[in-house]
Amino acid sequence: KKRLAVMTSGGDSPGMCAAVRAVVRAGLFFDCEVFGCYEGYSGLVQGGDLLKPMAWEDVRGWLSLGGTLIGTARCLEFKERAGRLLAARNMILRGIDALIVCGGDGSLTGADLFRAEWPSLLEELIKTGKLTEEQANPYKTLTIVGMVGSIDNDMAMTDNTIGAYSSLERICEMVDYIDTTAASHSRAFVVEVMGRHCGWLAIMAGVCCGADYVFVPEQPPSASGWKDELKKVCLRHRKRGRRKTTVIVAEGAIDDSLQPITSEQVKDTLVELGLDTRVTTLGHVQRGGSAVAFDRLLATMQGVEAVKAVLESTPNTPSPMIGIQENQIVRIPLVEAVSQTKAVAKCIEKKDFAGAFNLRDAAFQE
Ligand code: F6P
Repeated sequence: KKRLAVMTSGGDSPGMCAAVRAVVRAGLFFDCEVFGCYEGYSGLVQGGDLLKPMAWEDVRGWLSLGGTLIGTARCLEFKERAGRLLAARNMILRGIDALIVCGGDGSLTGADLFRAEWPSLLEELIKTGKLTEEQANPYKTLTIVGMVGSIDNDMAMTDNTIGAYSSLERICEMVDYIDTTAASHSRAFVVEVMGRHCGWLAIMAGVCCGADYVFVPEQPPSASGWKDELKKVCLRHRKRGRRKTTVIVAEGAIDDSLQPITSEQVKDTLVELGLDTRVTTLGHVQRGGSAVAFDRLLATMQGVEAVKAVLESTPNTPSPMIGIQENQIVRIPLVEAVSQTKAVAKCIEKKDFAGAFNLRDAAFQE
């Protein structure tokens, strides 16, 4: 029987529980044994109770839950070879040679490197007497499959990451709340949203909440002109009778000289316009709460596909990342998706903002 392990890693996102549930149940359905790897990569490194079999009923009720019930962590030990040696040994002692990781680009890259290093890890474990050849030989290759769990929607080559729409929903609810008090007092609100270096949450929230202005990293405004432009737009809206002003600032917002645009700067600019202005940084409420229907669906379809990808993988198949493109669940070479994601950051560094915008996926550009 094929034995695979499933883990969630990096920042949690709503839908990760649904993804684990889908992997566990699809795995059992296809006659595999499925291990839960708890606390991200720490589960592999520490083994013990953090790497244990999961049964059908263990994931009962998980479909709608937020966060991740198998835990997640940013594991420093796994970044060192010594940690990865422990991880490989723990896996082999349990007969696991396939790993499905649901996380962001860092977690998925780590997994792919682990796969590349696997033969040399086994060699070292045998040489140092930590494993016998008989123990290691049946597990010569490691299969890695990635699923993207992140509220940021910052992974290239997939239209959506698991959790992004739940987070967007949360942001919209919060901005709706803010709007009622803003309009009552005729105030301006600067709402800072997450997304790391990606402006997807900010842009989408801007569209869905009818914001006056949105600042995102991929389309930085002019360093010398953005304050005047912001004032002009907000004033125009006020003159049309709008009683509130809503400006969404992505946490990674910058100007075209790559200097950060902070919520406080935006607030000061609106104050100069004579608007009574408050800043709300939404913070981790954006990552909390249950998964919206789309994330449940995405996680479930991708979890099933991830198990199929494990079963169909060969030593020559590049590690796939399960994604969605134009509503089709697809397998994408993980390395390519990660390198295109990094290319966006490189474009921004080189001030090639049009390039950065174009490299973002269709869902962003729409
Ligand atoms: O990647 C998800 C995310 O929520 C980002 O949007 C944000 O920048 C970061 O994680 C916050 O990380 P932490 O939870 O470690 O503060």
